[in-house]
Amino acid sequence: MSAPGLPGREATPRPLGVAAIGYAFMGKAHSQAWRNVGAYFDVPAVEQRVLVGRDPESVAEAAARYGWAESATDWREVIARDDVDIVDICAPGWLHAEIAIAALEAGKHVLVEKPLSNTLAESEAMVAAAQDARARGVQSMVGFNYRRVPALAYARQLIADGRLGTVREVRASYLQDWLADSESPMTWRLRKETAGSGALGDIASHAIDQVQYLLGDTVAEASGRLHTFVGRRPGRDGLEDVTVDDAAWAILALSGGAIASVEASRVALGRKNSLRIEVYGSEGSLAFDLERLNELEFLDGTGPVQEQGFRRIVVTEPEHPYLEAWWPQGHVIGWEHTFTHQIRDFLLAIRDGNPPSPSLEDGLQVQRVLAAIEESAAAKSTTVQL
Ligand SMILES: NC(=O)c1ccc[n+]([C@@H]2O[C@H](COP(=O)([O-])OP(=O)(O)OC[C@H]3O[C@@H](n4cnc5c(N)ncnc54)[C@H](O)[C@@H]3O)[C@@H](O)[C@H]2O)c1
Repeated sequence: MSAPGLPGREATPRPLGVAAIGYAFMGKAHSQAWRNVGAYFDVPAVEQRVLVGRDPESVAEAAARYGWAESATDWREVIARDDVDIVDICAPGWLHAEIAIAALEAGKHVLVEKPLSNTLAESEAMVAAAQDARARGVQSMVGFNYRRVPALAYARQLIADGRLGTVREVRASYLQDWLADSESPMTWRLRKETAGSGALGDIASHAIDQVQYLLGDTVAEASGRLHTFVGRRPGRDGLEDVTVDDAAWAILALSGGAIASVEASRVALGRKNSLRIEVYGSEGSLAFDLERLNELEFLDGTGPVQEQGFRRIVVTEPEHPYLEAWWPQGHVIGWEHTFTHQIRDFLLAIRDGNPPSPSLEDGLQVQRVLAAIEESAAAKSTTVQL
């Protein structure tokens, strides 16, 4: 059998076959990216072979709508197929480890949504499987898609180029309000056994990944607090206990000396999907807001003080990361483009035989920070070393 996408092998006549598991929120977002990535970027050809869900009729309808050739209800059968080369895991966290490990062992490249898994032990097992697979030329990546917001990728470049001098402080907050109503019903996201944690794993994970990604550094110490404001919510058979946090707070110390505050909430009334990041250095500062994702605020502290002020950079120039593929300057892009960029980078890594970033090891590192915050929260916010 040919080995599509693997470097050093004979060129294959057929495109890389993709299977996506899960067809709701992330399944829909990823489907769009698989559909359009080849139209905008020079990447290996892909075919949307099969979309997997649980309900045969609904998944068949979604497959037809989102551009998949087929649908299926058993992910084990799908990852065993010879015409599937890539498995894209868009299912909830409790399934990530089982599916990813099986797919990697079957020799399939794996893209898995964040957070990497629900427990540290599962994440460690996933990393071991990823390392074995990597030695066989099989790649894997975790879906921290905000790394692919051009303004944030550019912010990382500015920091790496030293334009901020020594980074001292980061403020990162990720606030939503879809649980602000106490009558909002139970979902898998509100049970520890299915979600692992609440706002912490769901959205603080993105903020923590950004802190580490932007600074090119890792968290060494964490102190945290978790809180559940609405302890019981309507379930199928009456009120059910919520077993995860509604909101999370953490102070993180990075190995290089910077300190970050991270705040995440799903009950911050009025905030829909507000990821804000501020980075303060000795020579410059940056500010970003996902609700204005084409913009980056930059303060250059090296000029005359009377001329200093945050300048608004419209990050839509072809010189900015990813933007050359899209529209003329000023013709803004949106949230969904981050998934196309993510798949572009994943496909190029497969083509070139380079480990993609963020790796499953990066996902595990975020998981360690989440676990440290939970440990600290359970011990009255004492500082936990990683
Ligand atoms: N990167 C982001 O911005 C982002 C945003 C939202 C969610 N996520 C992550 O994506 C993942 C999925 O979240 P979501 O919001 O799409 O969830 P969702 O509830 O909208 O969808 C889950 C999907 O998984 C499918 N599924 C569940 N069990 C299955 C099984 N046994 N076999 C096959 N399919 C199964 C369901 O049918 C559904 O289609 C989670 O890890 C979540 O944290 C990431």
